[in-house]
Amino acid sequence: MREDFDLVIRSAEVVTATDRYLADIGVVNGQINAIAKGLSGGRKEIDAKGRLVTPGGIDSHCHLDQPMSDGSKMVDDFLSGTRSAACGGTTTVIPFACQFKGQSLQDAVDDYHKRAGKLASIDYAFHLIVSDPTPQVLKEELPRLVEKGYTSFKVYMTYDDMKLNDRQILNLLALARREGAMTMIHAENADCIAWLTDQLLEAGMTSPIYHAHSRPMLIEREATHRAIALAELVDVPILVVHVSGREAVDQIRAAQSLGLKIYGETCPQYLMLTADDLGLDGFEGAKCICSPPPRDKANQEIIWRALDNGTFQVFSSDHAPFAFEGPTGKKVRGEGAAFNEVPNGIPGLETRMSLLMSHGVLNGRIDLHNFVALTSTNAAKLYGLFPKKGTIAVGSDADLVVWDLDTPRTIQNSALHHNVDYTPYEGIKVQAWPAITLSRGVVVWQDGVYLGNPGHGQFLACERPVPAKVRGRGHRSPLWKE
Ligand code: URP
Ligand code: ZN
Ligand code: ZN
Repeated sequence: MREDFDLVIRSAEVVTATDRYLADIGVVNGQINAIAKGLSGGRKEIDAKGRLVTPGGIDSHCHLDQPMSDGSKMVDDFLSGTRSAACGGTTTVIPFACQFKGQSLQDAVDDYHKRAGKLASIDYAFHLIVSDPTPQVLKEELPRLVEKGYTSFKVYMTYDDMKLNDRQILNLLALARREGAMTMIHAENADCIAWLTDQLLEAGMTSPIYHAHSRPMLIEREATHRAIALAELVDVPILVVHVSGREAVDQIRAAQSLGLKIYGETCPQYLMLTADDLGLDGFEGAKCICSPPPRDKANQEIIWRALDNGTFQVFSSDHAPFAFEGPTGKKVRGEGAAFNEVPNGIPGLETRMSLLMSHGVLNGRIDLHNFVALTSTNAAKLYGLFPKKGTIAVGSDADLVVWDLDTPRTIQNSALHHNVDYTPYEGIKVQAWPAITLSRGVVVWQDGVYLGNPGHGQFLACERPVPAKVRGRGHRSPLWKE
């Protein structure tokens, strides 16, 4: 047979966010070159008969090797982070280049490129975290960075070293509007958290469970409402990240039903964990400290429903790799430190796709095409990577997952490929796991073996994701000169 392709994936059941059909996929130079039945030969062939093949996952909210200001250290860099991602079916990561107050954004980006450069085994883009929106940042640095492909940024309404006030957020939203960038918002009310934290500490309530009591859902609801109002005032889309339960879901859904372009993201921890997990014996609960905190079973159901009914567009891990043991992870202030001294965040890069496929699709909670949209396609669209990433189409990168849906497994940290010494999902059963992951046509994970190469991953400059035509549903102002 003529060998027209570098690789042919034979007899795949191709699944995208919209379609499902049987075909061979021919790959040349890392891109999908042909999709048809009966393609000619490839120098390499993969038999996918009887297997679903989906676009590789895009984890558009994960933290890798992000410098911290409290003495803690993330244990996953771009080597272990992208390895772990690939083994779990993710082929693109979008972590954060984080600006410290007083630092230039460009410096943060340069530093982050050095961290990723030769280590990444899958492709990556960067969101920016803007914690110091000086006139210089707003007028010069950010427009220049958007032009160069850093087209999304995260804004924090909480955390002392990151939080912005409403006026600063408005300035950034106005810039996002002008530049066509996407703003991600961490919506929790900082003053309410600080006040509640002080009360809890004074009352001697310091163990990990009180993290959840310091951040009840209403403070997420208030901040989500405010973020939406600010976005409406500026007439620009935003994406509310890591939404935990009903009250924030209601805010987002109400805004969407008014026609506002408000997008939502949720994460595995809000489906799989509850606040009770923070109450585990001793300091164990610190393993599940993240913000917003996991809620309860009823809220897990609300999150499932919001994934199913289109309220959420994105399902990402919010992987924040702090070790449990050792002096720079969850115990950075010692075992038994008060909840507010524990680094926030939990690992989840490798388990994200399997958990949603197993507990969402195979359990009948969400549709398979929605799974693809939530784990890949929508992130590609919202962050300016589509159609290079996020779909299976001629011309797209051959970032693919061949699924094994028939092997029951139990999640165990010892089988994962991150550097974190625990997974909050230990013991959870899953039926689906990627049999093969391909990054631009190169097999990076097959039959339980990691085959990736550091340096294979390329930086992705993102397009501007918010064209003027998606605006216009918010507040009308004579200031908006289109
Ligand atoms: O607790 C969390 N979510 N940690 C990671 C940082 C963030 O806010 O996303
Ligand atoms: Zn956040
Ligand atoms: Zn995060």
